[in-house]
Amino acid sequence: MAIFWPLSKSGSKSVGRDEKVGLLEARIHAMEARLAYLEDRLLGYYKNRWDVVDKLADYLVGTQIPGDYLEFGVFMGKTFSYSYRVMAPLFPEMRFVALDSFEGLPEPKGIDAQDRYTSGFFKGQFACDIQQFEKNLTDGGVDLNRVTLVQGWYDQSLQPGSSPSSAIGKVSAAWIDCDLYESTVPVLDYLTNRLSVGTVLLFDDWRCYRNLADFGQQRACREWLDRNPQITLNEFVDFGFHGQSFTVASC
Ligand SMILES: C[S@@+](CC[C@H](N)C(=O)[O-])C[C@H]1O[C@@H](n2cnc3c(N)ncnc32)[C@H](O)[C@@H]1O
Repeated sequence: MAIFWPLSKSGSKSVGRDEKVGLLEARIHAMEARLAYLEDRLLGYYKNRWDVVDKLADYLVGTQIPGDYLEFGVFMGKTFSYSYRVMAPLFPEMRFVALDSFEGLPEPKGIDAQDRYTSGFFKGQFACDIQQFEKNLTDGGVDLNRVTLVQGWYDQSLQPGSSPSSAIGKVSAAWIDCDLYESTVPVLDYLTNRLSVGTVLLFDDWRCYRNLADFGQQRACREWLDRNPQITLNEFVDFGFHGQSFTVASC
């Protein structure tokens, strides 16, 4: 890349050597930061997630589905922060809701503990202290004024009347990343009355149980649809080996 120095009227260079070195260093730092961003975006472990977040944002711009972005299972906030950075400028009214125990996974039991199809999930896995989570968001450029935190186990924190989850209205996109069948059941029940035609449901763990329909999120989703025949889904985008998203076709 060519480096152009500001020129004086006579055409001679107007900056001294120290200033040139400073400018050069600043440009090198800027290029290094850009390179690090592009490496992470295009080659990093999370690149499949960033792809689907970008597609989600593109879809929501085109379809103007009303409502907030909800992420069920946020861990250290990596996906949450990326989703915020992409969507917050595009949707000034959108709120970003993080729902988590902040104690990691509950003990896998019942169907989640059978037949070693659990992808090795265990109690306390993905624990991240809520203060650390908030710090990660702030460090990642997230404005906490646009964030709602819902701390607690889903079978309690998502119950009708429970605060603050009851105050949340329509959902434009729900990232469901809580790994277990038992955790996904209350999440889907909570979402039932908050959907619009077109709402996007992103199941991060759809294929985590060897892509078997009777385990994990596939089972929770099938049972939810059986309980709510008014709800139908269209396939949207798949991501990585594990994730599958849908749009709501009727609700
Ligand atoms: C894989 S991590 C989420 C990763 C995050 N979405 C990301 O992309 O970085 C799973 C999260 O789900 C949360 N979780 C799972 N089951 C839960 C439950 N029943 N109630 C509350 N939180 C739960 C865990 O605390 C954990 O933070």
